[in-house]
Amino acid sequence: MKRISGLKFCGFGRATGDLAVTNEDMEHFVDTSDEWIQSRTGIHSRYYAHSRSNAEMAVEAAEKAMREAAADKRQIVYLIVCSFTPDCATPPVACEVAGRLGLAENVMAIDLNGACSGFIYGCTVAESLLQANPIKSCASVCQTAAADGNIQKRLEGAKESYALVIGSEKISPLLDMEDRSTCILFGDGAGAVVVKYDENKRFQALCGCIPNQEILYCARFTPVIRMQGQEVYRFAVSKVPAAICDLLEFSEISADEVDYFVCHQANLRIIDQIRIKLRQPEAKFFRNIYEFGNTSAASVAIALCQMNEEGLLREGMRLVCAGFGAGLTYGVMLLTL
Ligand code: COA
Repeated sequence: MKRISGLKFCGFGRATGDLAVTNEDMEHFVDTSDEWIQSRTGIHSRYYAHSRSNAEMAVEAAEKAMREAAADKRQIVYLIVCSFTPDCATPPVACEVAGRLGLAENVMAIDLNGACSGFIYGCTVAESLLQANPIKSCASVCQTAAADGNIQKRLEGAKESYALVIGSEKISPLLDMEDRSTCILFGDGAGAVVVKYDENKRFQALCGCIPNQEILYCARFTPVIRMQGQEVYRFAVSKVPAAICDLLEFSEISADEVDYFVCHQANLRIIDQIRIKLRQPEAKFFRNIYEFGNTSAASVAIALCQMNEEGLLREGMRLVCAGFGAGLTYGVMLLTL
């Protein structure tokens, strides 16, 4: 029997690194050209977090998302920060973010490393937690209520509980500026969504992993990103459209019934191949890779936020989001607005 699930996306936010780096800037420190980068990837610029931490970008994106959702801090019971570039190994970035945002003590704050699929993994986990564990939010609110004595007010607030899912990456310190086929791809940034369980808002996800340690990795003690670009390319253009087709078939809707496809912004040619395999028009594939490059787990979240800012998102629309990357991980999700 198919599981009935739902997730309402209530608020979106984003933040970038503080230093814009164009392809022309890149030409000063690596043997490349704007023409080569744009024609092979679709990237023209990216942002580096020169003087900002991962947590700082995550907080800025989260604050915007919480404002839009009009979510009270105490209503956020799950905080999931998706990242492969935390500021330190422990404590989790999520704990610092929870502190800076002033979330309640009993928020469950977790880091999730799903590489470039991280945000899709994160939303999937959030939906499951919110659906399976609504009592947690009530219990936590009751505790807080008992502590400050305002029980009635807190119980009213308990009707709605939210998860905050953030994709946040500071990748620039992990780039080998002599590896020109890799360093030109990546940028730093964060995107955030505030979500709550809503069975009227369809949510379906399909996530997976094809274990591989060689095609794309970053070792802990010699932390530099190494990538076999053509292997990643082959993986993405075969696995992602297949996963989207499986998701749509399971959900009993056709690609034509999807309003927008929001793919991980890794390479414009990958996005185009996915589009061609799904036989869909260009206008249904949102792209911002030109400005941001590949921001890994932040990429789809930043794209959703930008679409929202541009007025592209309307109530009832169906979106398919797709992530893929190191692991090799992939994740696709269907959501209704
Ligand atoms: N500027 C100029 N020339 C470059 C270059 C650069 N930035 N990077 C590589 N080249 C050169 C290579 O040295 C090589 O030259 P040669 O033929 O004289 O040896 C030539 O371009 C082709 O290199 P190759 O690595 O085969 O290029 P490619 O066509 O595979 O493109 C990528 C490289 C990285 C753009 C491409 O493989 C890709 O986008 N892969 C997917 C990567 C990705 O999305 N990763 C993130 C997933 S989350």
